[in-house]
Amino acid sequence: MSPDPGSWTLRPMVPADVPAVHALERRLFPVDAWPLEMFTAELAQPVCWYWVAEQDGEIIGYAGLMCLRPVGDVQTIAVVPEHEGRGIGSALLRTLHAQARELGATEVLLEVRADNPRAQRLYRRFGYEQIHTRPRYYRDGADALIMRLDLTAPGAPHEPGAPTTPTKETP
Ligand SMILES: CC(C)(COP(=O)(O)OP(=O)(O)OC[C@H]1O[C@@H](n2cnc3c(N)ncnc32)[C@H](O)[C@@H]1OP(=O)(O)O)[C@@H](O)C(=O)NCCC(=O)NCCS
Repeated sequence: MSPDPGSWTLRPMVPADVPAVHALERRLFPVDAWPLEMFTAELAQPVCWYWVAEQDGEIIGYAGLMCLRPVGDVQTIAVVPEHEGRGIGSALLRTLHAQARELGATEVLLEVRADNPRAQRLYRRFGYEQIHTRPRYYRDGADALIMRLDLTAPGAPHEPGAPTTPTKETP
């Protein structure tokens, strides 16, 4: 019998979370992990909002948005491999979108590695479209795709399975 996957929740990231988040960052982004100080600095920014996914007191995912109206930027998003495919990345992204809308953003931009099809699938499912390529953007020479989500498009994509509140979510 497979183990109960358990339940997780989303909550705002606080400074005390930074060491755990940074440990995940180094594991999930071995080529271009942010230094710990960058998370601390981002949390102190009045234009940045960061969230964590937590299960049994352990952080299993995180994401951040910068919003300078009318543009929101997904700064980062990550879920630990053991918890991928449970909808946590989608929930984090929905939360960032809700936050961006609340702050008056009309569009959200992000960068994703050209060799990261899983993340690209996630973004496309939410309605993101590729608008640029930045050749050799990453330290190891990989290209970056710049993707954009129009938050104002009529009938617009999807917030697949969208909740009404961005503050807390369970699967
Ligand atoms: C990209 C990333 C954030 C996605 O997170 P995730 O939690 O796995 O995302 P989701 O579970 O919401 O969706 C992923 C897949 O699981 C499926 N899924 C979602 N909920 C599910 C559920 N309850 N049961 C089974 N499958 C599910 C989705 O359909 C989706 O399928 P796809 O791979 O065909 O697109 C994660 O893979 C990651 O952190 N990767 C490494 C870091 C990274 O690349 N970050 C992005 C940088 S731009």
